Amino acid sequence: MRWTVLTLFPEAFRAPLAAGLFGKAVENGVLEVELINYRDFAEGRHKVVDDTPFGGGSGMVIKVEPVARALEDLRRKAPGVHVVLLTPQGARLSQAGARRLSERGHVALLCGRYEGVDERIRHLVDEELSIGDYVLSGGEPAAWVVMDAVSRLVPGVLGCGESVQEESFFEESLLEYPQYTRPREFAGMQVPEVLLSGDHQAIARWRRRQALRRTARRRPELLESLSMTEEERTWLSEQEQAEGE
Ligand code: 6GU
Repeated sequence: MRWTVLTLFPEAFRAPLAAGLFGKAVENGVLEVELINYRDFAEGRHKVVDDTPFGGGSGMVIKVEPVARALEDLRRKAPGVHVVLLTPQGARLSQAGARRLSERGHVALLCGRYEGVDERIRHLVDEELSIGDYVLSGGEPAAWVVMDAVSRLVPGVLGCGESVQEESFFEESLLEYPQYTRPREFAGMQVPEVLLSGDHQAIARWRRRQALRRTARRRPELLESLSMTEEERTWLSEQEQAEGE
């Protein structure tokens, strides 16, 4: 998969892109990342990329022309590119949305800055995304988040296909079950006996139930779109009753 990031701070991406599985995937050529500074497309000696807002108000607004020229150049070289504007006003990224993006061959992320971007920039992109309901000072950290969430779904990036498979549980609207590793006891807290039993069927059932219980407690709204067996439904309501007592 190919990423193009349009940003005024390309250097901010060097460390996050080099670390961990993402860095490995770039090294192996499974992922390709190109950083474009749209200041390079600004005019004049001062390469101005922002200006004061018409109508007054505080802060600066990203100008449309440097972004338009950068995108025009990109689309000419890569006609199939899917262009995403990162903005707190975009649609919130979900796991399903990450999966959809992972099926695109080439995605460009446009990072805004300062107090906003000229409204006409919206007409130059294919989609607007936000990573959550809070305000970042720029789109760069959001770009890392989007690239991480999407790239790990690209075959060959994670290395172990199984973890991604199991997490499709999340797309099925269930939180993860509890995980343990050695030691068996820490500060009086024991690893659940069933996980040491070697009984794979019992382990799978325990994990599914734990995931159901955890989801019911922490994110009950996720259960609405989940299909449960009658047995699971009964077990869950018994648990809730027991907890209520
Ligand atoms: Cl994509 N950008 C900015 N600046 N803030 C955000 C965001 C994006 N997503 C959530 N907050």
